[in-house]
Amino acid sequence: MAQKNLHVAKQQKLDEFYTQIGDIERECSRYREQFKGKVIFLNCDDPVESNFWRYFALNFTRLGLKKLVATHFDREKSTYKLELTGDMNEDGTVNDDDIVKTPLKQNGDFRSDECIEILKEADVVVTNPPFSLFREYVAQLMEHDKKFLIIGSKNAATYKEIFQLIKQNTLWLGYGFAGGNAYFKTPHIKEFASGVYDEKTGLVKFRNISWFTNLDTSKRHEELTLFKQYNPDEYPKYDNYDAIEVSKVANIPVDYDGTMGVPITFLDSYNPEQFEILGNEYDLNIEKGRGYINGKRMYSRIFIKRRQQS
Ligand SMILES: C[S@@+](CC[C@H](N)C(=O)[O-])C[C@H]1O[C@@H](n2cnc3c(N)ncnc32)[C@H](O)[C@@H]1O
Repeated sequence: MAQKNLHVAKQQKLDEFYTQIGDIERECSRYREQFKGKVIFLNCDDPVESNFWRYFALNFTRLGLKKLVATHFDREKSTYKLELTGDMNEDGTVNDDDIVKTPLKQNGDFRSDECIEILKEADVVVTNPPFSLFREYVAQLMEHDKKFLIIGSKNAATYKEIFQLIKQNTLWLGYGFAGGNAYFKTPHIKEFASGVYDEKTGLVKFRNISWFTNLDTSKRHEELTLFKQYNPDEYPKYDNYDAIEVSKVANIPVDYDGTMGVPITFLDSYNPEQFEILGNEYDLNIEKGRGYINGKRMYSRIFIKRRQQS
């Protein structure tokens, strides 16, 4: 039991890291048109700490928002929400003086009744939710049919539930972090190994982080330019599944019409008009859970097929 509590405490600490405003700006500026006239809800954001709040509050007028709401979470006690609806005091600008703070009866948990009521009124949810609750967090957004733009570990794309959403084209990856690296501020530096934590900047570095969204991106309509032609020597078939192994996304052959096993990084350049995702080892029921070539176990793959051009 003590061991379990320790694990939960550690997990909670690992949920506590804060996104940089530059990263928020870089991604959010790409969806400007989709934020216009909308109610934006930040449901995992202590407004005092959160750069999500800062970004949307500072850009309220420029983005043409209808309303901005953030709920503060505390494990132990009841908290509050902040709302910004425009130039309430009619001083000619939308600023901190227009913010309305209201107490919540509950603790600001995104699953609490109060937060769900706010969620129902919201158009777009934007945040970096706790990674340990990512599945549950996305399931709630889906249940309430919400638009969202959230940060998560790229590994989450391989979770059974999340992968199904990607396959059904109801969720996809956003534009991503500069150079594929995300740097976060954290109060729990001891939990991170040196090399991950940079003393000079006070930030921790994660390589495998992405934006997950169901807002449209121009990226998912861009064709992946392919250069390689298929030949059976370079693209062997799996022993246990009728597909060819493609070890790098850039090497996807331009002229192969059958099934191809590609690395998970394919999701960064996935255009559903160009390719169809058939599944992963799990949903395709691939024997021994992986593709094998000449008896050698391959990396985890996504199985895709080129869409026929009409
Ligand atoms: C990864 S941090 C990100 C914080 C902020 N969104 C940002 O990006 O700077 C996740 C935050 O969610 C909060 N949190 C944890 N569990 C929560 C829950 N059940 N409901 C709402 N917020 C929660 C944590 O306290 C933490 O501040």
